Amino acid sequence: MYTGLTHAHSGLRWLVLLFLLLAIISAYRAWKGGGSLSKMPLFALIVTHIQMLIGFVLYFIGISNESNLKISFMDGFMKNAITRFYTIEHLILMLIAIVLITVGYSKAKRKATEEAKGKTTFTFYLIALILILLAIPWPFRGLGAGWF
Ligand code: HEM
Repeated sequence: MYTGLTHAHSGLRWLVLLFLLLAIISAYRAWKGGGSLSKMPLFALIVTHIQMLIGFVLYFIGISNESNLKISFMDGFMKNAITRFYTIEHLILMLIAIVLITVGYSKAKRKATEEAKGKTTFTFYLIALILILLAIPWPFRGLGAGWF
């Protein structure tokens, strides 16, 4: 089950990135007077929340399995780049990004004009996208993860 969820979590990153990008483009257009904001920010919110739920399941299965090499609070886990990354860095940065998306979405909803909705969504989602890109264990970072 852990392996299946890891594959789902790994593959879903591409949908997260795609929906965030489409949401940001749509928000930029609305901000600059190009009409009403699309449903993309909502889809991006939903897919990132699903990703977070899978992440939490992986995290708790990982902690409870002493032989897991990525999630561990065993002595010295902060000195190992891989356990530090998955146990602390990935978790914290992704949670901040998801909070920004959630807060940005609900703040935008309460704005009066499409331009203001677009500007708020654009700002919050762009910062979240940058954090997510930084917190993904891309293969070239040597953190034991692949492209899919
Ligand atoms: C938008 C949010 C997120 C994205 C795009 C993302 C993406 C990824 C990617 C690409 C991997 C590498 C998978 C592999 O190929 O081995 C990974 C691993 C992992 N993520 Fe996330 N993640 C997100 C949020 C989270 C959150 C919020 C948590 C925890 C609550 C989490 C927990 C984990 C864990 C435990 C692993 C290691 C799985 C393993 O044993 O290989 N992720 N994540």
